[in-house]
Formats: sequence, C-alpha cells, structure tokens
Amino acid sequence: MKGSSGEARAEAFANIALAKYWGKADVPLNLPAVPSISITLDPLRTETHVRFDPDLERDGFELDQVSAEEGERRRVEALLDQVRAEAGMTERARVVSRNHFPTAAGLASSASGFAALAAAARAAAGLDWDTKRISSLARQASASAARSVFGGFVELPAGEPGDADLAARPLFAEQHWDLCVVVAVTAEARKPVGSTRGMNHTRNTSPYYRPWVDAAPALAERVRAGVAHRDLPSLGAAMEQSTLAMHACAMAADPGILYWQPATLSAIHALRAAREQDGLQAWLTVDAGPHVKALCAESDVDHVKTLLDGTEGVLRTLVCRPGSGVKLV
Ligand code: PMV
Repeated sequence: MKGSSGEARAEAFANIALAKYWGKADVPLNLPAVPSISITLDPLRTETHVRFDPDLERDGFELDQVSAEEGERRRVEALLDQVRAEAGMTERARVVSRNHFPTAAGLASSASGFAALAAAARAAAGLDWDTKRISSLARQASASAARSVFGGFVELPAGEPGDADLAARPLFAEQHWDLCVVVAVTAEARKPVGSTRGMNHTRNTSPYYRPWVDAAPALAERVRAGVAHRDLPSLGAAMEQSTLAMHACAMAADPGILYWQPATLSAIHALRAAREQDGLQAWLTVDAGPHVKALCAESDVDHVKTLLDGTEGVLRTLVCRPGSGVKLV
C-alpha cells in the first residue's frame, strides 16, 4: 500500500555507543567491522518529513532550515533510491529535517537523522516494512543510525562482507535501567574529519587497526554483560576501554586523527579524579568529536553536571536519559 498522500513524518533520537564502532568490513555496503552497543538518547531528537512529488526533478534536502550541501544531499538521495527501487516508484522527494537539540548543542547527529529519514521514506513510499528492515536501510547511510531505530539499549553486530541485510537489534528497552548520560559540549565547530573518512584512513594506515578489530568483540561482550546485570562499574570500565582503544587506533593512523581538544582532556581528567578520589560513580566516552559524555546513575547526575560545568573549556552540559525508538508522528 502506498502512503495515501506520498508523504510521512518520523522522529528518532540520537544514540551514544557504549561499545564503539570504528572500521568497516565492507565499504560499499557500509558494514561495521566490529560489534557496537548503544543507548538511545532522549532528548536529542531529529524530526524528518519526506514528500514524494512527481513535479520534482531531483531530491531536495533541507536541514535546520538550510539547503544541505551536495555531499549530504547525495547521501539522502542514495537512501531514497533504495526505497524507490523497492517500491517501484520514480518520484523524487523533498526532505525536510530538523534537529530538536537544545540550542547549538554542537551535537549534529547523522544517527537520529538517518533513522528518522529511513522510517519516514519507507512510510511515504507505502512500504510495509518492519523495524529490522528500516534499521538495515538506515545502516547503509550511517551504521550508528541503525541503532537509533530502536529504543533503550541496542546492539549492531559486526557484518560479514556481502551481508546486505545487516540490522541492529534491541537488547533491553529503555525501562531496563535508568542510567543518565551527561554530555559536556566542548566546541561549536564541526568535526574536522568525518567518521567514514576517519575509519577508512585508520584502516588503511594505522598499525593498531587489526588489534582494535580483534579486541572489540570482547569489549562489546563486557559492555553487554554490564548492561544485562545493571553493573555500572563493570560497564563503565569496558566502555572507557572501548573509547580509549578506538581513539588510540585512530591517533596511530598516518597522519594521526585527533578528535580531542584541550577541554576534552580536562573533562576526562576531572571525571577520573573525582572517581578515584571521591568515589564518584561516573565513566566517560568520546565519539568522533571533542565532546565528553559521562555515564552515571540518576542519583549522581547533579554531582557530575556540576563537575563538568566547572571544567575549563566545557561550554555547557546536557542531561540525557534512555529514549524510545523511531516513530511516525
Ligand atoms: O555511523 P557513523 O558513520 O556516524 O560512525 C559512528 C562512529 C562513532 O560515533 C565514533 C562510534 C559509534 O559507534 O557510534
């Protein structure tokens, strides 16, 4: 059944990886070389509207009221091409997307964006797909987007080359554990090296790439067990090791990729010192950018937030909690 009007709107939350994805097993199919595990983050929400229109000559993509640059537009077009092929349609679409992140959080997210786009596009095309297929479609645009299709705690397995249908799967719903993530925003600028370029450069030049790929499954297993048992210290330790191993691998590329800024390191040291000296139960992670995210229990949120707000170079903090999966709105 085709969407009655050929249009649909969906929203999805961003996510943060507790066990990191870094490296592709198959570049054209965008398959991750390592398993990753994430928490979907409320309130970092993207809302996307898709409208197929026979009068359009090409797909248009507007993000936060600005026409997207050509590279971004092409990524959107590639996803729409797949939907059109499945639905047997030729109409081009107008895509309007909005990040409802608190003002200038500096956290633009392809994960929430492509998850919302995949859900809205398949609905607008009238395709009766389950979440697994939506996740697989989103994964081809951005692997972390596959995870944002689901709420709570989510796993994206490593892909075998050629495994075109790989999708994320939910591990535990958002009610499983009332963890908090305090995001410390440390810079306003866009990251200098996008994740795809960073991963491919790391794979091609870093002597630590193979060891990272070999070590990642055991780290993901420790993260999975920590989540399953709601054991914050063991989850936190595995998450920090996954983060530092991923960054060490990227830093060892030629030339090295360094996402951290001075404030990143200040926040890391502040958290670790508070943990070691005051017993604060908070652990950190950092994605392909300079922001630091601290994982803690609800009872420690105020303490962690005060600590990070007071760290030199931290521009602002933002408290997130486990969010739900993608939905049509
Ligand atoms: O899916 P991408 O291309 O946005 O890459 C995400 C990479 C990291 O954020 C660094 C790790 C992760 O698993 O989300």
